[in-house]
Amino acid sequence: MKFFVDTADIAEIRELAATGLLDGVTTNPTLIHKSGRKFMEVIAEICGVVDGPVSAEVVALDHETMMKEAEILRKIADNVCIKVPLTIDGLKTCKALTDDGTLVNVTLCFSANQALLAAKAGASFISPFVGRHDDNSFDGIKLIEDIRLIYDNYQFDTEILAASLRHPIHVLECAKIGADVITAPPSVIKMLSKHVLTDKGLEGFAADWAKTGQTIL
Ligand code: E4P
Repeated sequence: MKFFVDTADIAEIRELAATGLLDGVTTNPTLIHKSGRKFMEVIAEICGVVDGPVSAEVVALDHETMMKEAEILRKIADNVCIKVPLTIDGLKTCKALTDDGTLVNVTLCFSANQALLAAKAGASFISPFVGRHDDNSFDGIKLIEDIRLIYDNYQFDTEILAASLRHPIHVLECAKIGADVITAPPSVIKMLSKHVLTDKGLEGFAADWAKTGQTIL
C-alpha cells in the first residue's frame, strides 16, 4: 500500500520524506490556503522533495478552463498529478489528460458509481473521502469496499486512493480491504507508529540498560 501525505506544509513533507515511507503528496485548495504559500511555488517545492505523484487541484468548474489550468500545472514538474473534481466536466478533463499520458486524481468521490465513472474516464487515482462520508452518517469504509469489488470485477487500473482519513483505524481498515493508496494528515501517519506498550517496553529496557553501566559507543 502506498502512503501519500495530505498537506501543503513543506516542513512536514520533508520530515516524512526523510523516513523513506512517503510515496506521494495530495493537496487541495484548503490545504494551499492553510500553507499561506503561493500555489505554484509550493507545488514546485513539494515536487522537488518527493519523487512520487504530487496532486495539484484545478479550481475551474468547466472543462475548457480546467484544461487551461491543467496545462499550467502539469508544466511545474513531471510528477505533478492533476486533481479534478468528480463532475461531468471533471471526468471529461480526466479523459483528455490521461489519454495524453498525464496523471489524474479524481477527487470528491462519495459513491461507488462515481468511482466507476472515474475508472471509465481512465483516472490514475480515485479519491473517495472516507472521513467526510462518516461525518454525514454514511459508511466511508463500506464505500472503499464497494469500489474495490467493482474495480476488481472489471480489472480497472485506477488506483483507489482512500482520502479524508482521520485516524489509524481508517488506515487499518483500508489496508485490510486493499486500497492501493492512503492519504492522511502527517499527524495520522505518525500515529501509526505509536503503541503504549512500545513506549512502556522502551522505558523498561532503558532503565535496565542504565543499570548495566555499559555503553555501545
Ligand atoms: C484528499 O485528497 C483531500 O485533500 C483530503 O483527504 C480531504 O480530507 P478532509 O476531509 O479531512 O478535509
